[in-house]
Amino acid sequence: MKILTILGARPQFIKAGSVSREIAKHTEVVEVIVHTGQHYDSNMSDVFFEQMQIPKPDYFLGIGGKSHGAMTGQMIEKIEEVALKEKPDWIMVYGDTNSTLAGAIVASKLHIKLAHIEAGLRSFNMKMPEEVNRILTDRVSTILFCPTETAVKNLKAEGFPFKLTTNNQQLITNVGDVMQDGAMFYKHLAVKPKLDIKNSFILCTIHRAENTDDENRLKNIFEALDEIAKEKQVILPLHPRTKKIIENLKLDIQNLTIIDPVGYLEMVWLIDNCSLVMTDSGGLQKEAYFFGKPCVTLRDETEWVELVECEANTLVGADKEKILEAFKNNLTFNIENSKLGLYGGGEASENIIKTLLEY
Ligand code: UD1
Ligand code: UDP
Repeated sequence: MKILTILGARPQFIKAGSVSREIAKHTEVVEVIVHTGQHYDSNMSDVFFEQMQIPKPDYFLGIGGKSHGAMTGQMIEKIEEVALKEKPDWIMVYGDTNSTLAGAIVASKLHIKLAHIEAGLRSFNMKMPEEVNRILTDRVSTILFCPTETAVKNLKAEGFPFKLTTNNQQLITNVGDVMQDGAMFYKHLAVKPKLDIKNSFILCTIHRAENTDDENRLKNIFEALDEIAKEKQVILPLHPRTKKIIENLKLDIQNLTIIDPVGYLEMVWLIDNCSLVMTDSGGLQKEAYFFGKPCVTLRDETEWVELVECEANTLVGADKEKILEAFKNNLTFNIENSKLGLYGGGEASENIIKTLLEY
């Protein structure tokens, strides 16, 4: 069996690593990896793949830093060329990025079976590019690998499963979350960043378009964080797009510890050692939970609703007062309230390969 895996944004490599390591155990499965180039920086060079113990991509398409239409369109054209040459049995895509959608469109046009990992998630906010990408990808997927029961319910509520070209029904299955597999694998490899780190600190990331592309929201968030940082160190590995925008807006930031994006092994150390996570990231909300840290989410909604329900996660949007209030509440991770095992037991990758082999 030949699988063509399409990756592009940094978190996709982290997620795919666990699945690639599982594939390597099966001699009857060959994986060919395409890196679209959606993200490419010094943290994602050859060293990244070696440190992360994931295979280096077989194809690098070099398509990044463009508008959504240009990026997605060029990816479709190039992925199609690779798919025609490689003739895979499956195209495998992860999550909700433009690279995901491009891979899904190629698979559907060429009648190649499509496996979507992290299927069924919804924010119900159609202004998010990610929501559009995941809905379109789900619709043409052969197997929808859901990470949670919520994701399965979301699909059922939308009328899934649909019939495919072969007249077969789509297969919907909850296999658990590949990020849980990754968290367990990388926990032991964590590296302390070279940085002056206080005993107790908050780890923060901001990069979602709904915050960075709205001046008011971004200002509110940064004002609140800068105020919090007077009392407690706030370490903020800054996404390149957010960096560019806050420089343009000339925001007055005095107290935050702003650093360049860190490698994943350093990120794992920061998550494992912080007292609180404040973020608009999707992945980081779950990583906080995996490492037993409370999380304050700087968004109006989340795909990971089960974390809010068990009070491991507090949604505050971009409201300055709510952000400050959440900090003052001295949130702790309440193991009793927080049902463990919401994302499977770290066997998602094994479940995925088993399902593909049996299909
Ligand atoms: C994309 C995803 C978003 C995901 C994020 C992960 C879409 C629509 N959005 O958003 O869902 O949360 O990736 O980080 O696909 N860049 C790097 N290295 C990085 C990050 C970004 O070089 O680690 C650069 C890119 O090359 C680009 C810019 O930052 O020039 C913005 O990246 P882009 O892929 O357009 O969107 P993201 O905001 O990263
Ligand atoms: N991450 C990282 N270094 C950073 C910022 C994020 O390794 O400087 C990791 C983070 O821990 C998570 C993944 O990248 O595993 C999530 O990326 P991001 O928040 O950019 O995307 P999202 O999950 O929102 O799609």
